[in-house]
Amino acid sequence: DSPVRAGGTGARPLVIAHRGASAQAPENTLASIDRAAELGIPWVENDVQRTRDGELVVIHDDSLQRTTDVKRVFPGRAPWKVKDFTAAEIARLDAGSWFDSRFAGTRVPTLEQYMRRVEYNRQKLVLEIKNPELYPGIEQQILKLLGNEGWLDRPHLTGRLVVQSFSADSLRTVHELRPAVTTAFLGTPRIADLPGYAAFTDGINPSYGTISRGYVSAAHSVAGPHGRPLGVFAWTVDDADSARQVAGYGVDGIITDKPDVVRDALQNP
Ligand code: G3P
Ligand code: CA
Repeated sequence: DSPVRAGGTGARPLVIAHRGASAQAPENTLASIDRAAELGIPWVENDVQRTRDGELVVIHDDSLQRTTDVKRVFPGRAPWKVKDFTAAEIARLDAGSWFDSRFAGTRVPTLEQYMRRVEYNRQKLVLEIKNPELYPGIEQQILKLLGNEGWLDRPHLTGRLVVQSFSADSLRTVHELRPAVTTAFLGTPRIADLPGYAAFTDGINPSYGTISRGYVSAAHSVAGPHGRPLGVFAWTVDDADSARQVAGYGVDGIITDKPDVVRDALQNP
């Protein structure tokens, strides 16, 4: 049984730093999770994709264009897809200057580098498998890396990991390969369809504007594959009023670019 919190405990929601503390540091970098740690936020979220030569890297978009200087370094390589660049090429890119010159020289982390920093910081992770249709076999590869890093068999780590995706197929694969891993589906399935999702996912992580107190209660009334009520982590909630509102719905976690703002809102209802 995974110790990650199940749904419906009634406790104050977990606060999860979306792409790290991404309002204060460049998203999905080691700087962004270090910033979350400095703010006293244990939970972080990321996005995992794969390079041309098969390295797992942490980046949100399927293109390098928005969050790196790839256009300057490799001007002839439009549309600059992650899957068309090698890990060595991506390691040359600056993933911090676009956000603020103070972060010049920040790199796109490999998942291995990222996992080691999460562990070093004693943080907990919501790992998103991004665009799995572009990367056949990525689920097995992610699980292998997590296993190599000790995240699948050491109790102090397994209780600190949720694997999420917009792809139900991808989560089903993760659940079949490693049933002990806690998973969450990104989206808002119809209430009638929740039992079907509960065959392979422990949580439902919806965009916060799509849910109500009734929806959260409905999710909590369905048991996931580990026999616990489905958890609900709502995203992306960046202001105090919305945070208080979704907390009132009974969500179990709030995914936010501004974890300090959300934490303060929840402490002052
Ligand atoms: O964690 C939820 C959220 O990350 C899903 O949307 O586009 O930010 O990955 P996106
Ligand atoms: Ca994400």
